Amino acid sequence: MDHTLEPHVLIFPIPFQGPVNCALKLAELLCLSGLHVTFLNTEHIHRPLLRHTQVLSRFNRYPNFKFQTIPDGVEHEKPVSGDRFMEVMAAVDAVTKPLFREMMVSGGLSRKSDRPVTVMIPDACFSFAIDIGIDASIPVICFETVSPCCLWTSYLNLPTLIEAGDVPFKGNDLDQMITSVPGTEHITRRRDLASFCRSDDLSNPVIELIVKEAHAVPRAHGLILNTFEELDSLILPHMRKLCPNIYTIGPLHTLHKTQLTAKITSSQETTFSNSVWKEDRSCISWLDNQDPKTVVYVSIGSLATMTVEQLLEIWHGVVNSGKPFLWVRRPGSITGGYDESQIPAKLLARTKEIGCIVEWAPQEDVLAHSAIGGFLTHSGWNSTIESIMEGVPMVCWPYFVDQQVNSRFVEEVWKLGVDMKDTCDRLLIEKAVRDIMDQKHNGFTKSANTWANLAKDSITKMGSSSIQLGRLIDDILVISSTPFDPK
Ligand code: UDX
Repeated sequence: MDHTLEPHVLIFPIPFQGPVNCALKLAELLCLSGLHVTFLNTEHIHRPLLRHTQVLSRFNRYPNFKFQTIPDGVEHEKPVSGDRFMEVMAAVDAVTKPLFREMMVSGGLSRKSDRPVTVMIPDACFSFAIDIGIDASIPVICFETVSPCCLWTSYLNLPTLIEAGDVPFKGNDLDQMITSVPGTEHITRRRDLASFCRSDDLSNPVIELIVKEAHAVPRAHGLILNTFEELDSLILPHMRKLCPNIYTIGPLHTLHKTQLTAKITSSQETTFSNSVWKEDRSCISWLDNQDPKTVVYVSIGSLATMTVEQLLEIWHGVVNSGKPFLWVRRPGSITGGYDESQIPAKLLARTKEIGCIVEWAPQEDVLAHSAIGGFLTHSGWNSTIESIMEGVPMVCWPYFVDQQVNSRFVEEVWKLGVDMKDTCDRLLIEKAVRDIMDQKHNGFTKSANTWANLAKDSITKMGSSSIQLGRLIDDILVISSTPFDPK
């Protein structure tokens, strides 16, 4: 074994907006600490990333950073919606996995190459990378970008849920409590588990993928999570019994922004976008003209979709609340599309008066804007933690995967808003918006401020997330120079 290997980290996200965005932020934090980083993107996601961002020029300032791409067999030119998640993952499994194995075992990034990778940081969902790391004697630290509450209740405990007979569900009562997961016995109902737990078929490909992840993650050297210690204090002690080496480095977007600003003082940048859609910044000028805390921000993230019927219910609900609103309607997010002739004239007229609709917004800046008073969200983990950071209460309308768990925690554990899961009714939406903006505003704002302050504390120099990031960097240096023993 070569003891003089130069530390060289490989970061390998799954090819979707959220995970790639998080992985780029982590990559930049590691670059700032002087580590050599290779960022491996599949071709399908790399193309729109280059088209809509300045990542190439931004990362050019790090001579120790390199982008590399790998084929994925995905034909779609544009980023796909969530209904195609498994199509992409299956293509990666068929096309990327064997190429990746070759690359790591005997190819350009292997121990036999001129520039060997000393630590791999794949998305935890790529359980094959953990196996390949062990085969190729390369330590693996997984990065899971879904929420820790979902990772615990529905991923790492999926084998337990199956063994206990909790999944698949017996009967139709979605309100039955789930008691087989330690730590969340009094919180999680069936409807609050990750969406795939509703499947009645254990050979469902998503369930198979997650069971593989549940077995693989505890075999990795460590696990990186986008959270801070206080936020997930309910479940982290339980999770650490299974995965002792957890690095909590969230809110990652703020830790990243803070360290970048502190270390690159000459930086003139105002945006750190890693968006695979073009950001429309005109909505910031629109927000500038609104009163403080009056606007509802509506967005369902990068993968979720809604039907025209759901669009109309949400649209009526928001408009009838009377609050000004900024709404992101991502191209492809309304199933089958719609044209204005389907929309009541009154709704369109009122929208012109109080609404602003864009295809993609600079969300971090939007949530930080003083005009924003609430967020109607699909409860994706990035959106949730971005909202927590800015102290913005939420109306949650979850779509899939971790979002069902996140929305439950937002309402029940963190007391940050209203969980609307499994409903889509204009009256309920109007009430929920009024609740977070008016009726229950004070209560939600109090919790939101408490969590936002704890989030801010965590990324200060001596805060828990800064310390955990430092520990991650130290560990990478140590394991890079230590002979690797997979046992
Ligand atoms: C989904 C999951 O819910 C998420 O938890 C998982 O990690 C990946 O798959 P997604 O639909 O992308 O993710 O939602 P979310 O995790 O909330 O991420 C959306 C990201 O896009 C956020 O970082 C948000 O700031 C950004 N965004 C969204 C914009 O920049 N502009 C927009 O207009 C909308």
